[in-house]
Order: sequence, then structure tokens, then C-alpha cells
Amino acid sequence: MVKYVVKKGDKYYPSDEMKKIAWIKSDSIYKEAKKNPIKFWDNLAKQGLYWEKLWDKTYEEKLPYFEWFKGGKLNASFNCLDRHINIRSMKDAVIFVPESTKEKTQKITYMDLYKKVNRFANVLKSLKVKKGDVVSIYLPLIPELIISMLACARIGAIHSVVFSAFSDEALKTRIKDGKSKVLITSDGYYRKGEKKDLLKKAKSGIKGTKIKKVVVVNRLNKKIKYNNKFVSFEKESKKVEQYCEPEIMNSNDTLFILYTSGTTGNPKGIMHDTGGYLTQAYWSTKWNFNLLEKDVIWCTADIGWITGHTYSCYGPLSLGGTLVLYEGGLDYPNPGRWWKIVDENKVTSFYTAPTAIRMFMRLGEKWVNKYKLDSLKVLGTVGEPIDSDAWNWYFNKIGKGRCPIIDTWWQTETGANMVNALPGVGPFIPGVAGRSFPGIKHEVVNEKGRKSKKGFLVQLSPFAPAMLQGIFRNKKRYRETYWKRFKGKYDTSDGAFYYDKDNIRITGRIDDVIKVAGHRLSTAEMENVLNGDKFVNESAVVGIPDKIRGEVPVAFVVLEKGKASKELEKSLIKLIRSKIGPIAGLNKIYFVEDLPKTRSGKIMRRILRNLLTKESLGGVSTLVNPGCVDVIKEQLV
Ligand code: WT7
Repeated sequence: MVKYVVKKGDKYYPSDEMKKIAWIKSDSIYKEAKKNPIKFWDNLAKQGLYWEKLWDKTYEEKLPYFEWFKGGKLNASFNCLDRHINIRSMKDAVIFVPESTKEKTQKITYMDLYKKVNRFANVLKSLKVKKGDVVSIYLPLIPELIISMLACARIGAIHSVVFSAFSDEALKTRIKDGKSKVLITSDGYYRKGEKKDLLKKAKSGIKGTKIKKVVVVNRLNKKIKYNNKFVSFEKESKKVEQYCEPEIMNSNDTLFILYTSGTTGNPKGIMHDTGGYLTQAYWSTKWNFNLLEKDVIWCTADIGWITGHTYSCYGPLSLGGTLVLYEGGLDYPNPGRWWKIVDENKVTSFYTAPTAIRMFMRLGEKWVNKYKLDSLKVLGTVGEPIDSDAWNWYFNKIGKGRCPIIDTWWQTETGANMVNALPGVGPFIPGVAGRSFPGIKHEVVNEKGRKSKKGFLVQLSPFAPAMLQGIFRNKKRYRETYWKRFKGKYDTSDGAFYYDKDNIRITGRIDDVIKVAGHRLSTAEMENVLNGDKFVNESAVVGIPDKIRGEVPVAFVVLEKGKASKELEKSLIKLIRSKIGPIAGLNKIYFVEDLPKTRSGKIMRRILRNLLTKESLGGVSTLVNPGCVDVIKEQLV
């Protein structure tokens, strides 16, 4: 088996074998990019993508807005499909692995995908979708999700994908905010052997919205009553012309919006442009995973999250790569499933979250040892800080000590990976993400915004091409969330410190956002649900450390009426799951008399969390009701 890394001291570096195949072999690229990042990205955009018209200006900045490749024109679906057709028409674009092992793996070539996207783009047109319209997509991990996204991109519609495990309520909020008139969904999907009814949730989610048409993909062969409002994905695709001319878009036209949690109850519609986003999706996929022509990439994230948008769709497809899409549960029918998929499809580049790794650690290595895993070349991790135990297990058991681990820090807002180590450069250090991707600049700063060994992670100008364009229909929130704390610097809301001169270690969120199993949740959103219950007066949700899921949410609830009981706890936990989705499963509820608050009425969640984790509480003198802290403390023992 080829060894791609060597150990030097407590760090790993690329081996000669890795250097031989690496796109980037030395850190001179960082220096070159640093000299003139704008010129650096200008070159990459030209080399990586097909442009109908090149730009007049590479970068323009009027903070809090900035624009890449101004005046440039291109189409994202053309870049992911048409330009590969001559040279890679028979190459697999998507290897779809259905959950049931009785169903066959489906290999979709670039030609197949091209045809399907063209037809579905014409279906969208027939439903009166126009350039600039928002189309909501509520689909499981099946090829039609990718087809729908690319079909939107083809006609210049903005897609807004909503994670299929989100609740009907969550779907409704996102449809309303996006003002979409068309929804693409499916009759359901398979999860752990069961049939899940997605259409039922979709039907309830569109009530009270402006949705006029619902396109339904047939996944479970259910009998659906089609009519003027509900139409069939498959039947409509047969009715239309086979070719759809791609709409020529401006580089700065919005390609998609994707909702993510912030510090208030309402999710934010993060907007990404076409040219800048696609440029960085392309190059980060190529360099991070050292993707070669014959390679196969598998990013296990659902496309309902940004990781899936960039590394299960736009990145690999713009490169003409082959990606694996797996529909189902990670341990179905047994915990060896993922590794079976890796072997069977000769996956070279594998990308997952620390939570999944910790789950497999717990399930035991016997499931891993059944498989060779010798096709693997680069392993990636994302979504939350990875602890050294999980890092070492991933490195030794999955990578067999041969593969570099690329710990990629980024966010929904940044669109693509921003801080990491490149496979041909290294070093690979457990728990340390690394340094800014070439052509991007980060700094760790103190409260005053000055460079500091430990503190807040910020990004500096020129801001990376894949960075968000704004928050959909909310300029004020955009400015206040990212640009208020540090003048002229993008505020990531993550804490970090310098591990050494070059490399950064990320410590995690410093706002009221928590990461549960790598998924981003807003404590405020959960509190809104709790506070809406007739028994609840007020509540505070905090994240506490968890061995598998990284963090889990627990709530402190002050009751309005009724009595604290196991039943009430259960029903409130159920309420949150149904209003947001199963990822928002509360671990526990503490019923308390009062919550610690500042004079301005802000609930001090930090104090509550520290009470649970037994960390020092910090000052309680600013509280209006310091006495309640001791009361809660007694209740916890
Ligand atoms: C937050 C963003 C980026 C795709 C998935 C998450 C945390 C992400 C890492 C990492 C430490 C990480 C941060 C960030 N995070 N990657 N490699 N090491 N923390 O996107 O849902 O927008 O969450 O995830 O806290 O701010 P997201």
C-alpha cells in the first residue's frame, strides 16, 4: 500500500509518493499568492472555469460588500456539465449508492447527467420559473437533488436547498423568507430500512406560503395524485425538449441561498454568487483532495448543508470528477456499510465530520477491519474541532497510517474551505486545522482587533472569492453579524490560537451557536420553540461537551404554570424535535426558578454552561439576580 505521509517528531508530512502526485508540492505557493492575492485568484478563475466573457475588474471592495470578477459572465451548470461532454461523456459523474443493499448502485455518466439536467431545466421553465427566482428544494440524498440544483443554475434561478431531515416548520420559514413559488421534493426516502414520508412534511410546510407548484420525485413508488399544483418530476421531464440553452449569468449573480443558524431565532439566508464561489469550489476541491482524473471523491455530508453543496456537487462536478452519493444511514444494515462503499467504489478522497468518526470509534474497529480501504489517498474532516483521539483513530484505522488528514475549517458563509493544510505540503497535526488556503488571509485578534496569540479568528481583505454576498433580504443583519465587531475585518464568530507561527488551531464558536454532531444550531431558535409552549415562561439553551456528538443542547426552563415533571420534560423535548428536526434533540431539561441575567435582560448562558461543565463561573457581579446562580448550582448536585 502506498504511504502518503511520513512522521517527523509529533507531526506528519507528505511522503515522496505524495509529492510525486501532488498538485501543490511546496509552500512557495503561499508566498506567491500572498504577494498579490487578487492576481492569484484572477489566474485561477481563468484557468479553472469557462467564462463566456472575462471580467473588467478582478476585485472591488466597498465594505461590507465586495465583488469578484466584475463584468465576467458564465454559467455554473455549463461549467459542471457541457464543457466535460466532449472529453468525459462516458465518465461517471455521480455514483449513487441507494440505502437498500438490494438496490443496485447507479452510475450516472456526465452524458446522463447532462441530459437529465437539460430536461429538468426545461421543466422548471415550463413551470414559469425565471432567472432570479428562488426555487426551494427539499430532497433526500438522491441524484435528483444534484439535478435540481444544476437545472436551477442552468436557467439562472436561485436554489434554496432545505435539509430533508428538517421539520415542516423549518421548511415553511425558509420558503417564506425566500418567497419561493416552486418546491421540488420527493414522495419519500429510505432511512435505516424504513420508508420516510417526505411529501407529508412538504405538504404541511407549504401551507400559508406562496408555493404554486410542487414537483415530486418518485423514490418510493407511492401513488401520488397529480394535479395542477403537484406534478411529477419524471413525467414532466419526458414532456419537454431535450436541450436547454444555459442562461449567461454575471459573475456576481446569486447562484444559491442556503439557510443557516445565527444568534437569533430566525435562520439567515446566506447568499453565494456564481463566479467567485465556483472558482474557489473548483480549486479547493482539486488541491485539498488532490483530485486526479481517475479519482473518486466521497463527501458524506448531506447536500442540505454547505459541505455537500461545495464538495458533493459544485466542486467535483466543475472539475469533471466522480463523486459518490450515498442515500442512507451510516450503520445500515451494519456499521461496516461506509467502508464497504469505499472499497466497492475505490474511493480515493474521503471527507467526513468528527462526530461520524467518534461514532465509528464506539462501534469498534472490527467493522473497519473487514475492509481493505487501500484506495484511500486523502482523508478530510470538517464541521467542528477534531480531538486528537478521533484524529488518531481516523488516521490509523481508516487511513492505516498512510493518508494525510486535511482538517478543513470553514463555514456556510465562507462557501469553501478557508483554513487547512494541503496534502502535498503539510504539516498534518492532530487538532490543528493549519493555515489560510493560498490567496486568503486570516488573523487571530484580541477584543480590540489587534493581532494576538489567542482570541478571535477574523479574515482580512481581499476577502476570499467564495465568501457570502450577504444575507438574503437582510442587509442590516449582514452588517451587524459579520462586520461590526472588528473594523474592516470579517468576524467568523470562532475562537482560535496560533499553534506556531503559521498554523492555527480552532477552538470553536464564541457566539450563541452550537455545533451538534457538526450541525449548526441556534440556541435562540430552540428557546423560541420552548417559550412558545403554554407552560413555559422563559428558557435558556446551552451546549455542553459530549463524547460522540461534540456538543449537545440542554435547556434551563422557568415555568409559567404547571409543575416540573418527567412528562413535561419529554413533551418539550418532543416539541423541539418536531418544530426544528431530530438534530435539535435536547439532552435534558432543568426546571429552574430563575435564569441569570444582566441588567439589560440578557440571559447569561455562559454561566449556565459553566455550572454544568464545572468550569469557573467568571464574574457574576454584573447580574441583576446573582442569587439564582447558587440556587441552580444546588439543584444540579
Ligand atoms: C462552524 C461553521 C464548513 C462546513 C460545515 C460547517 C465549525 C467547521 C471546522 C474545523 C473546527 C470547525 C466552526 C464554524 N467548524 N469546520 N475544521 N475545525 N471547527 O458549516 O454549519 O456553517 O458551521 O463550524 O465553528 O464556525 P457551518
